[in-house]
Amino acid sequence: MYLEVLALLFFLERSCLSAPQQPCHPGDEFLGRCSSSRSAHDETPTCTELNLGYCNDLEYSTTIFPNILGHRSRYEAESGAEYLLLSVIHGLLNGECSPEIRLVGCSVLASPCRDNKMVKPCRSTCEALRKGCIHAFEAIEMAWPYFLDCDRFFAGNEEGCFDPLAGLKARQEVALSSLSPEEPSTIIQFTYASNAQMYSLLKRTAAKCSHISHVYSIGRSTEGRDLLVIEFTDNPGQHELLEPEIKLVGNMHGNEVLGRQLLIYLAQYLCSEYMLGNQRIQSIVNNTRIHILASMNPDGYELAASEGHLLNGWISGRANAQNLDLNRNFPDLTSLFYRNRRSRHYRIDHIPIPDTYWFGKVAPETYAVMKWIRSLPFVQSASLHGGELVVSYPFDFSRHPHEEKMFSPTPDEQIFKQLARTYADAHATMSNNDTDRCGASFYRTRGIINGALWYSFAGGEIP
Ligand SMILES: *[C@@H]1O[C@H](CO)[C@@H](O)[C@H](O)[C@H]1NC(C)=O
Ligand SMILES: *[C@@H]1O[C@H](CO)[C@@H](O)[C@H](O)[C@H]1NC(C)=O
Repeated sequence: MYLEVLALLFFLERSCLSAPQQPCHPGDEFLGRCSSSRSAHDETPTCTELNLGYCNDLEYSTTIFPNILGHRSRYEAESGAEYLLLSVIHGLLNGECSPEIRLVGCSVLASPCRDNKMVKPCRSTCEALRKGCIHAFEAIEMAWPYFLDCDRFFAGNEEGCFDPLAGLKARQEVALSSLSPEEPSTIIQFTYASNAQMYSLLKRTAAKCSHISHVYSIGRSTEGRDLLVIEFTDNPGQHELLEPEIKLVGNMHGNEVLGRQLLIYLAQYLCSEYMLGNQRIQSIVNNTRIHILASMNPDGYELAASEGHLLNGWISGRANAQNLDLNRNFPDLTSLFYRNRRSRHYRIDHIPIPDTYWFGKVAPETYAVMKWIRSLPFVQSASLHGGELVVSYPFDFSRHPHEEKMFSPTPDEQIFKQLARTYADAHATMSNNDTDRCGASFYRTRGIINGALWYSFAGGEIP
């Protein structure tokens, strides 16, 4: 392969229907459902109907006043600063720890009631939440909310406490049940994963398949989110001689979510199929090392997801939090290649990054990926985008800088073309010759194109 490392394909896919491409904001469905009727309360506390709008997805339906914080009625609870905070926490923390923080907060504000007695939420749940989420508060320089003080307002297991996250955990188990080796088939839940869910799914997938998988971080996004990679191979964590290193990246454009979700499924699929004894998957995992970065731009994703698919402008969340398009932020080595390729001693397989590159703005996400590429000898790589149904292969930048569309092959044209062709031919829709089908704009070249011939741009993810 030429250029240090490299094989870069852009798999651009999109669903044809106008199906929502963005997951719903977890708070959306609760908005406007809040009934405003005040419930009367008696002198002696008794169980009463739980009726707080932002808490209507709790697993119990009765609560009791006064609550742990001393609010004597639903009205008081609803008027308090604590409830207000819960209503905005998703946006404040950029969706981190959502919906966990809200569910635990709700269990303090409106604890379950049994036999006219309050059941307090569990201290252990609070402590685990605090451990996982305190950094999200630190990131916005906000103190941990006083009403989530684990010592003051929560109860120990021996006191018969209530775990407000039990249901959520059980639902995540269901999503992961495909990973159980006893299961005869792969069950995958078709919903978009939030950032928190994605991290949790990847970590749990690696834990289930710890003999062939492992997660590691390559850095953090602008807003401090983890750039978490899951790898699959027979000896995770080690480069083995002659085992090809493969890199798959999704969600570089934060609002292009299909690839991100496909990569999360791919990780689950590799794990579960390996455990089920699928020979093809086993030999792939035994003989290669696959690294999956499902989201290179979790900040952009968060913005796009929080706006929701209806309000979302088609471009919001595409860039990172510094408004840099990550697919224009890598060093432009292609121009250097064009300029120097005719000089006799110029090495086209090791082009140094020009100093001027560092004078510009380099996004932390871009930098993390560059460092990652340096650290491992990747031989094949793909980045999954949204918006078209085509496999685009290098170069992306035109041989003549002013030509917007110009066939600009690499010295490895044949191999790139073959890789692209293999993907497109194996894809049910792309190999469908019906010219009227959705996404048929590349039917003439049967689903593949040289990037610069499609449209030329510099600074794409070419190591
Ligand atoms: C993959 O490696 C594992 C562990 O060495 C072995 O048990 C399994 O049979 C191998 N599978 C294939 C298809 O090579
Ligand atoms: C589509 O056309 C190509 C080239 O003409 C052919 O090789 C391929 O088999 C066709 N695919 C189907 C599904 O008919």
